[in-house]
Amino acid sequence: MKKISVAIDSPAAAGAGTQAKLIAKHYNLFYLDTGKIYRFIGFIKIKYKNKFSYFLIRKKIKNLKIKDLNKKFLLSDKVATEASIVAKNQKIRKIVFNFQKKCADKPPQKFRGCILDGRDITSVIMKNAMFKFYITANIKTRALRRFKELKLLKKKISYQDVLKSIKKRDKNDFNRKHSPLKKTKDSILINTTNLTKRSCFLKIKQIMDKRLLN
Ligand code: C5P
Repeated sequence: MKKISVAIDSPAAAGAGTQAKLIAKHYNLFYLDTGKIYRFIGFIKIKYKNKFSYFLIRKKIKNLKIKDLNKKFLLSDKVATEASIVAKNQKIRKIVFNFQKKCADKPPQKFRGCILDGRDITSVIMKNAMFKFYITANIKTRALRRFKELKLLKKKISYQDVLKSIKKRDKNDFNRKHSPLKKTKDSILINTTNLTKRSCFLKIKQIMDKRLLN
């Protein structure tokens, strides 16, 4: 049976991660949240300060395990902002490329395929994916969702600051020179602004089932 491959791109806090997890669970797909890799590198930059180097990043990525990406410290706003700064660097993107490619091309056997989400998945990492989605929502909705998430994590941050940092990240992600965030022509647009998590999932599922059953 042909493996299922799903590629998702989205701006920050548009709900892509939530949807990717639901799709992964429903179709038994291996899920990689690629933003976590950049967050991991952003975290290393904060931690190692002037000892931060390409050599160090290569070493850390070589030893990186999927479970390391679930660490709580990767969720902070400070790490997210740093991630969007290191993500502009082409050399760093190249280091991360192989890790992502391996997950996309050879997901563990027990899965029916893979799903990756990020900023350059439909345009660079999984150009030939069976399904491509571009998930978005208006900026105030995204900021409010992220604000609520951070509150649940007991992070001390105001809505205005979250909005500001999402704007800054959007600016970095859409305008950078290498692998900027964009909707590819062959991606299906899903706007989650007025959708619940469930209705958004059902919309995506309907699109996927239609093609999978043919
Ligand atoms: O998805 P998340 O918000 O965790 O991503 C953190 C940052 O990592 C993004 O703002 C973006 O700059 C960067 N990123 C990227 N390419 C990806 C995934 C994330 O540049 N494929």
